[in-house]
Formats: sequence, structure tokens, C-alpha cells
Amino acid sequence: MIVARTRREAQAWSAAQAAQGRRVAFAPTMGALHAGHVSLIGVGAARADVVASSIFVNPTQFAAGEDFATYPRDEARDLDMLAAAGCALAYCPEADEIYPPGDATRVRIEGLSAMLEGEPRPHFFEGVATVVSRLFVHVRPQIAVFGEKDFQQLAVIRRMTLDFGFDIEIVGAPIARDADGLALSSRNAYLTAQERAIAPRLHAELQATAAEIAAGAEPGAAAMACAARLARQFAAVDYVEARRADTLAPLAADDQRVDGRLLAAVRLGRTRLIDNLALPRRADVTTPALP
Ligand code: PAF
Repeated sequence: MIVARTRREAQAWSAAQAAQGRRVAFAPTMGALHAGHVSLIGVGAARADVVASSIFVNPTQFAAGEDFATYPRDEARDLDMLAAAGCALAYCPEADEIYPPGDATRVRIEGLSAMLEGEPRPHFFEGVATVVSRLFVHVRPQIAVFGEKDFQQLAVIRRMTLDFGFDIEIVGAPIARDADGLALSSRNAYLTAQERAIAPRLHAELQATAAEIAAGAEPGAAAMACAARLARQFAAVDYVEARRADTLAPLAADDQRVDGRLLAAVRLGRTRLIDNLALPRRADVTTPALP
């Protein structure tokens, strides 16, 4: 595995792949790797000839008071994991490679960035879109893989890719979970043993709610009932929402032919947990026969 530290090195690697007719898949990360990241590399490998990844703890997606300074960093361990997963390039830039001196450009995706995760973290998607657009320019992949765990991030990046006209296929990878259902996250490391025992209830409640909606319950009402149940188990519930999977607009009761997504964020001690589930299309359940 090649470790590139500069944009020029990453671009030279990518140009060499293109010259050999190889398609590059790219799975960006902030390090602190776990099995979920490894699965992104696997999804990339199944769709391309070579896989590149990046490790960069992106300062612009953290607000003051968030965990930028303490975010877990262990580059040697992360590089070993990427190499073992079959990665061909690890791009590990210094901050000024991504944000050159005098940097003044930001990427903002209207609408999608302001809702759900964007409400308590208004800076977040601007930081993500800015860094991902630059990583795309540096690594020049044909395919880019992002986990469905951060479902809104995936939607934001799809929108950005369309709007910029980047010639990159954006692929969502299924959420990797522990055996008890907890979605893998680098921030799970912050959970105490007691909190870790409570955390899987988030997934369990989302599953129960998705089953209610599939059986015909009104999505908004089912999501509200889920929020009330979660509020009894977690320190706080930021949201539980049934949304359209494409635009993340609220899923209306009569949106039976669009893909839906149930998304939630809760707080447990000092950790914020997010999770989401696909909602089955309900056309077969409730659509009346055409005259
Ligand atoms: O999902 C992440 O780890 C980060 O938001 C990403 C996409 C690597 C951008 O910093």
C-alpha cells in the first residue's frame, strides 16, 4: 500500500491507475477505523480495480467545543488495517494540503444541510462537503463509497456530486453492526460499560417502528411514538423522523411509492448516537386498485 502525504502524490498515483485502465474506488475516513470502514473498502473492491482510502480528521466539520482535539488518532494502526483490507493507496494529508494558507472557499448544500443533523451542528455538512470535494479532486476516483450510517451525509454528497458534475458514482454501503444491533461508530469508544448496554435499544426501537410503518401505521405518528419510547431510555432524543430517502423531506402518509428512511439521533452520557433504517415501500400494502 502506498501512503501519499500530498495532493501531488495522490494525483500521480491516480493518474498511473488511469494510464493502466484501472478504475479507482475511494472510501474517505477520519481514521479510528473499525469493521464498518473495512466493509467500505470491500464494497469499493467489488466495484473497481483498486481501492484508495484517506485518513484526515477534518477540522471544519467540528464546531468549537466538539471533540476535534480528542478524536481518537492512531495512524499506524489505521494504516495496518487499510493495508490488510486490500487498500492500494492511503492518502494522509496534513491540514494545509487540504486547507492551503489563506483558504477561503466553502461548499454549502442548501436545504439538505440544515435539517436533522444540521440543526444542532450547523457547521457540519459544510465542513464535510468542503473536505470531500477537495479529496475528490486530489484522489480523482471513479467511484466513492460512504456508509449508510451517516445517511444524511450520503444524501448531501450525492447532491454535491450532481451539482458539481463530478464524474463519480456515489455508492452507499450498508451499516455494519455489532451482534446486538448497535451501529459501529468510532465514537462508540466513548461509551461507558453501562451506556454500551443501553445503546442497542436505539436500533431495536427503530426496527419495531419500521415494522409498524410497514404494517400500515402513519409514518409521522409512528416516529413520534418511537421518540417517546426512546426518551424513557436515553438522556435525550434529538429526533426520530420518517423521511424520503432521496430528498430527506418528510415522508407523507401517501408517499407509498418512494423509498423511505427512518432516522434517529439520541444522547447517552457524553455520546451522541445516530442510526437509521430503510422503510419498505408500502405500495403493495395500501394502494387501492385503479378503476
Ligand atoms: O464520514 C466520515 O468519516 C467523514 O465525515 C468524511 C466523509 C471522511 C469527511 O471527513
